[in-house]
Formats: sequence, C-alpha cells, structure tokens
Amino acid sequence: MSSDATSPETYRDLVASSLSDPAGFWGEAAGAVDWIRRPSQVLDDSEPPFSRWFPDGTLNVCFNALDRHVVHGRADQTALIYDSPVTGTTRRYTYAELLDLVARFAGVLRDLGVGKGDRVVVYLPMVPEAVITMLACARIGAVHSVVFGGFAPAELAARIEDARPRVVVSASCGIEPSGVIAYKPMLDAAIERSAHTPEHCVILQREQQPCELGERDLDWATLMHPDAVAPAACVPVDATDPLYVLYTSGTTGRPKGIVRDSGGYAVALRWSMTHLYGVHPGETWFCASDVGWVVGHSYIVYAPLLTGATTILYEGKPVGTPDAGAFWRVIAEHGAMAAFTAPTAIRAITKQDPSAQLVGDYDLSALRALFLAGERLDPDTWAWATEHLGVPVIDNWWQTETGWPIAINPVGPDGALFEIRPGSPGPATAGWDVRVLDPQGEQAPAGTEGAICLRLPLPPGALPTLWQDDERFVSSYLSAHEGYYLSGDGGYVDEDGYVFVMGRTDDVLNVAGHRLSTGSLEEALAGHPAVAECAVIGVADQLKGQVPRGLVVLRAGTDTDEAGLARLQEELVARVRAEVGAVASLRRVDVVDALPKTRSGKILRRTMRQIADGETPLVPSTIEDPGVLDDLRTLLQG
Ligand code: COA
Ligand code: AMP
Repeated sequence: MSSDATSPETYRDLVASSLSDPAGFWGEAAGAVDWIRRPSQVLDDSEPPFSRWFPDGTLNVCFNALDRHVVHGRADQTALIYDSPVTGTTRRYTYAELLDLVARFAGVLRDLGVGKGDRVVVYLPMVPEAVITMLACARIGAVHSVVFGGFAPAELAARIEDARPRVVVSASCGIEPSGVIAYKPMLDAAIERSAHTPEHCVILQREQQPCELGERDLDWATLMHPDAVAPAACVPVDATDPLYVLYTSGTTGRPKGIVRDSGGYAVALRWSMTHLYGVHPGETWFCASDVGWVVGHSYIVYAPLLTGATTILYEGKPVGTPDAGAFWRVIAEHGAMAAFTAPTAIRAITKQDPSAQLVGDYDLSALRALFLAGERLDPDTWAWATEHLGVPVIDNWWQTETGWPIAINPVGPDGALFEIRPGSPGPATAGWDVRVLDPQGEQAPAGTEGAICLRLPLPPGALPTLWQDDERFVSSYLSAHEGYYLSGDGGYVDEDGYVFVMGRTDDVLNVAGHRLSTGSLEEALAGHPAVAECAVIGVADQLKGQVPRGLVVLRAGTDTDEAGLARLQEELVARVRAEVGAVASLRRVDVVDALPKTRSGKILRRTMRQIADGETPLVPSTIEDPGVLDDLRTLLQG
C-alpha cells in the first residue's frame, strides 16, 4: 500500500491499513529516514502495555535533520530563518551553516562532559541557539529538555530536579512586548531551589541585557569560537533511545516528563509533514509556536528539518510586534506556503483588526493553508480566518504526549481532502485508533460524548513512557480502561468519523494554548500564610480560551477589612506570577467562606467551572453541603 493519499478514498484506505497492519504501514514510512542500522522489526509489543517501535534500528536524528540534506544537494538551501521583530533582526542559516553551528555546539557539550543519555536543560527564548542546542544534543545522543521561557523559577526548578541535567543552556534575557525579561536571575533562583545542581550553565549573552556570569557559568560565544572547539560527529543511537523529555502539566503540581524516542518520532514526523500538512522538501513553512511547547519541538524544529524544508523561527507575537499584521508580514516576506499557530493568536488579531484590513497589505499568494492547534478552534475564529485568508483553515488535535496530530483534515495538492466541519479537527489519522468510551469502558455510539481514548499500541512518535517513571505512565494514562490510552479530553465521534473534542475531563487548564496545571497554581496560592484552603478553576475567556480564577478560604484571624483584602489579593496574584510565571495570567482571586466538596473531600472544581461559564451542571449527589455551592453561585457568575 503506497503511503501517498490524494483523495478521500485512498486516504481512508491508508488509515485503515495503518491499523490493520501497523508494521507494514510504518515499516514503509521508515524508508523516508536514513538509518545506521535498518530495523529488522517494526513494532515490539510483547510487553503490554509497553510497546517499542523499530527496536533494533539505530540512527541519528540530527544527521537526518541536517547532514543528509547537506550531502544530498541542500547545503545552500535556507534551513532556518530567524525573524525577530522584537530585536529588529532577520537572519538566514543555510543547511551547511546550521550544520556547522550544531556540530560545533555538540563539540562544546561533549567537551563539558555531556555524553549519550545525559540530560541538557534548555531555558531559552525564541533564538536560533535554542534550535542549535536541541540538534546538538541529538547529535551526541544527549537528551534535551526544553523549558518554556515564560515559566518562573519554581517550575524550572521542578524540571531541573527531575531531569538532573549535567548542563543547562540559557540566555541573559528574553524580550517580550512589555520589555526585557532577565532570564539569568530566574535560572539562578531555580538552581538554588532545586535539589540537583548542574555542573555548568552555558549562557547566551544578548546585547539587549547582558548578565554577570558566576562560577559555574560559561559564555556561549567564547565556547563557540572556531578555535575553541572541534566539531562533534553524529553518534549512533538506538531508535528507542530518548531524544528528549518535555515536561507537561498534569493535574498535580508535579509536571510529567514526556519521553520521546528517536526512531519512531523521526518516522512519524517525516510522514506527517508531507501527508498531513502537505509540506515538501524545499518549501518554506511558518510555525508560530514556541520551542518550549510540543508544537515547537515537532513543527518548528524537527519535522521541517527532517523534511528538508525551510523553517521560520519567529521571536514576536501575533499582535503588538508591531501590529496585528505581523503574521501576514512574515508569511509574505519569506514566501511561507503554510502557517501554523494557536486559535488564541487569531483571536488576538481579530480583536485588533476585525475587518482584516492588514491582510490586504501583504502578498499571501504563496500560502496554501493555515493550521490551528493547541486548544479548541471555535467556529467564529475558523470563519474569520477562512473568510479573510482565502485558504483552508485546518484544525488539528493532539497533545504533548502524542507528539503529532491524532485528528486532522489532511492537505492534499488541492486543499483539504475532506469537507471542513467547523468545531471538529476532522477524522483520526494514520496510526490512531480513536474510541469514545463511557464510564464502564463500553464504546459510546456515534454522536455520544464520552472519554476520548486511543487503542494501544500507540503509533510511532507517541510517548513510550514518562521519564524514569513507568508506574506513573501506567497510572496516569493506561489504567482507566485496559488496552487504551486515556487522552484526558472528552468529546465524541460523529457518524462520518469526525472527532469533536469538547474539552478536558480533568483539571488541566489551557490558557492561550498554554497547558497549565491547577495543582501548580493552587500550590502557589496555598503557600501564602493567610490561605487555609484554595481552588483554581479555568473559566471561559474570549481571548485566551480559558483563564484561571482563584478561590481562597482564609485562616482565622486574617485581616479582612477592605484594604487588607485588596492587599491580600494583590499578594496572591503576585505569588502565582512569581511561582508559576506571568504566562499563567491569573488576575482574579476571591475570598470565600468555604469550598464545595464531595463527602470524600474532593473539591468540585468542574461544577464551579460550569457555573462560572453559565452552564447548569448536574451537581454530584455526593456533595457534602449543597449550601456551600449555592452561596458561591452569584460570585462565580459575576
Ligand atoms: N518569556 C517570558 N515571559 C513570557 C513569555 C516568555 N517566553 N511568554 C509570555 N510571557 C509573559 C508575557 O510577557 C505576559 O506578561 P505580562 O503579564 O507581564 O504582560 C504573560 O506572560 C502572558 O503572556 P501571553 O500569554 O503572551 O499573553 P498576552 O496577553 O501578552 O498575549 C496572545 C495574548 C494571545 C497574543 C498570546 O497569548 C499568544 O501569542 N498566544 C499564542 C500562544 C501560542 O502560540 N501557543 C502555542 C500553542 S501551539
Ligand atoms: P498540549 O499538551 O499543551 O499540546 O495540550 C494538549 C491539550 O490541548 C489537549 O489535550 C486538548 O485539551 C487541547 N487541544 C489541543 N489541540 C486541540 C484542538 N485542536 N481541539 C481541541 N482541543 C485541543
């Protein structure tokens, strides 16, 4: 069966074959990757629920992303365009130039003692050095763990503690529209709080705000001087060896270390880039996420480079850098054939430029599609983008855990293969056996909502486990329904196979496409000495999809006059900003007498969230004291 699909019928056949014969399907897709030792076995699922793709294959992902393109005639093609309106810089790197920098930084890491399997934490803004570091790690078989720059020291510390990196790579500062953000003090504070101390920190000094270097710190530019380092060669790694660990938010304050293997990920991404997103070697693609998120890992860095395409690294925002035409400028200036962002970015643009006047200022003739992911794509945002851009606007649903889309309307040569149904990311794609289950584990009929689950084995590219925690992997994802991965999203599949994702069934928040844990926010609030108990709920927000709202019960004796309360609320908002990060966008905290709970003590966050969103929830019969909830109704709706 050919892995090309140019019509709905051939695509359906292809998806069916990926489920009936996964080894045949992915074995063929593996031909698009250069192996050092070609795998003789495609899938090893002999130890359920664990499965491993290409168990005896060896390769190097950096070789696949850079060296092989240089060898095969793409040396002078642009690999990376750094477009940074916040610094007024545009820089292009050919495949040969990027390879040179990556090989040198791999040499730097090697000389610092970083070897195969060692971890390197990356805490960088959207600068080329982030991509260089990631690929340099891949080159020597080290495992990178990128932490989003918007996270504050406590979140960074939790990740450093779990990943135990030998080296951290960071910068003196990041640049936000609101001003320069000093990164170095946040890094120092995180290391101070962490039980693990890295041996070295490599710091990129940025001219906007250099920083002082301490004893364990080393200067990026000095280390990278061609006389100071010899380039490192690619190290063979097993297909099953980890390429990276990316921490994501669960419901508790402890982030989950999503492990990504090397071979399966490379095969899946390469396949997805052409067969789902319609991107071919040599084409330019603009993904406006951040390297701190999975979308950035997969579709800013790895998939376009594995494909031999040109990727744009954008250090700016959809609005304010300088205006709501920023994305259209990038697409036009670099001739991007497709763009990828989060719905919230489009909502921010529509707010400032509702009639899309700025779209008309740019030549978008190269653009063939706009992809949106990271949160539910509301039909209004879809309709606005469709009307004003004149290209298919394509929703795609996936998660940090899955690494690439589960459901998407694939793009063929003539646009979307299937009719677009606003509100749905489309049908499940190859490798994902999507089932909606009821609480008893029975499959729900078409159109009926339930827990969206994925039948095992998961396809290549999906997480094989959590970082050094198989037990938590099983208890978090695989124990609810035997033989299935629990996505944490609720929704339904219609009669034609379109998946509709309605939202999380757990307490994970999604704020402007950023995944945050209620647990982290609650820990930050609970750390205030006046707080006896607290809850955080995510309430609907027109711009950001959701924003967190805090509810706190105070300890007896706390000063509750008007001025005292106002001060306390300010302190609580500031605490969340300092502990979790500004990106949490928590602005409102209310003081309440009590929190509604079940008789077993579980706080009814979902019920409160539904009330705040104007819904009429079914109040659980196990509620301890219905009066507590009644007292909160007016406040929540206000
Ligand atoms: N480093 C440091 N601080 C950061 C940061 C980073 N990388 N990213 C965000 N922040 C800070 C911002 O400066 C802001 O701080 P402030 O409260 O002092 O102004 C705060 O975190 C919130 O930032 P943001 O989420 O960007 O909200 P905003 O109101 O400034 O902008 C949008 C709204 C919609 C423009 C913005 O959220 C956006 O671009 N969203 C798209 C997100 C996205 O692409 N997600 C990827 C998923 S695929
Ligand atoms: P993350 O792991 O940060 O990518 O967040 C994944 C979560 O974001 C999913 O579990 C969903 O809740 C939500 N999400 C991502 N993409 C979509 C989408 N296209 N439609 C609906 N929800 C989405």
